[in-house]
Amino acid sequence: MQRLFLVGFMGCGKSSFGRRLAARLGWEFVDTDAEVERRAGMSVAEIFAVHGEERFRELEREVVDELCVTDGALSRQIVALGGGTVCRQGVMERLNGAGTTVYLRMPPSRLVRRMSAAGRARRPKIAGMDDAELRAFIENALPEREKWYKKANFVVECGGASDGSVLRMLLQHIDNQNIK
Ligand code: S3P
Repeated sequence: MQRLFLVGFMGCGKSSFGRRLAARLGWEFVDTDAEVERRAGMSVAEIFAVHGEERFRELEREVVDELCVTDGALSRQIVALGGGTVCRQGVMERLNGAGTTVYLRMPPSRLVRRMSAAGRARRPKIAGMDDAELRAFIENALPEREKWYKKANFVVECGGASDGSVLRMLLQHIDNQNIK
């Protein structure tokens, strides 16, 4: 299967690692948030503000549905999923059937450090939060969300690993699984 799905909490680097990985492998890079924005013709923050979260979740579902029916044999893709996309019955199972899933697991302190004020502002669920508020939000949401993330085929423990080593771990997984 030539498709890798990256899942995990907001800020863990699904898009940035995904883009670097795709560039390294010469594969296509797909970001579900960007795909939702393209279809709606507005940013994620605007979708939440104008139509509400439920509409955003519907658009996410449509994007996932289409990704999963595309013929995997033809698509060499790295797909970065939004942090909440997989936190619903059946989504991880669908992704596991359509490719290889990897959970980028990162401690709350590092997630907080990785999300700048601008990065928070474009994510409506955490917009305007200071470090303490964001940390409390993550510590509250992560245990529930990990129930979904941990259904991934692999967990990459990012812990204190440098970005370079996380990228190497991801490449290693691709090599070991023969998904090249
Ligand atoms: C969300 C995560 C965001 C984006 C939206 C909601 C979430 O994606 O889909 O702001 O509920 O976790 P990233 O995980 O790429 O930040």
